[in-house]
Amino acid sequence: MNVLIYDNEEQIGIAAGNYMCGQVLQKPDSVLGLATGSTPLKPYKQMIELYKNGAIDFSKVTTFNLDEYVQLDVNDKNSYHSFMHENLFNHINIPEENINFLNGNAENLEQECINYESKIKKAGGIDIQLLGIGSNGHIAFNEPSDCFQRWSHVVELKESTVQDNSRFFKSIEEVPTKAVTMGIGSIMQAKKILIIALGQNKAKAIKQLIDGNVTPLCPASVLQFHTDVTLMLDRDAASLI
Ligand code: PGA
Repeated sequence: MNVLIYDNEEQIGIAAGNYMCGQVLQKPDSVLGLATGSTPLKPYKQMIELYKNGAIDFSKVTTFNLDEYVQLDVNDKNSYHSFMHENLFNHINIPEENINFLNGNAENLEQECINYESKIKKAGGIDIQLLGIGSNGHIAFNEPSDCFQRWSHVVELKESTVQDNSRFFKSIEEVPTKAVTMGIGSIMQAKKILIIALGQNKAKAIKQLIDGNVTPLCPASVLQFHTDVTLMLDRDAASLI
């Protein structure tokens, strides 16, 4: 694993945004796997900055987002659909038809997951997957459990995740308790992985990811088996390694 440690979030944002854009410069029709949460905000800002400076063109890019809440209106400000449009898609030139999300309001969620996997395959697979990590070691909404869930699936969120995410909602009762998420296999098939972690509350999960046992109790630990992983960490997130 390529572990890079930075002094602050600003620096990580620039480095991570440049890394994602570097992929697009090398291959203009790249397939990007994208993430939500606080961690990718600065990287997305940098991608927007480079686009506005005329340094990069996203018109041939395709994207797949990692996950979405179940039964939350896509126009709700807390849907990942809204988050991505507000923080990235509304400011760059990825064609709307190239933007893909799991539909958490699909009538048949299992079929939706199967269709999503087919779409990723049809697009040629993900060239680079951007990831955050949960304080409990989750990646996307793959929560700690007894086994690795391979492909996209419906998931019941852990209390700690609902708690972590409640900061975006008016009250914890409003946080959806179910989501649809890419699986560990979907993530592991990405050609490259860029994982970013900020803050002390991620330190334990980062330690386990880098040199702990590979176990579904810390889903991110599986990344030890991937051959092209870059970690960008601030000093707090790196404090236990
Ligand atoms: P965060 O979430 O970026 O908001 O910390 C990361 C995650 O839960 O994957």
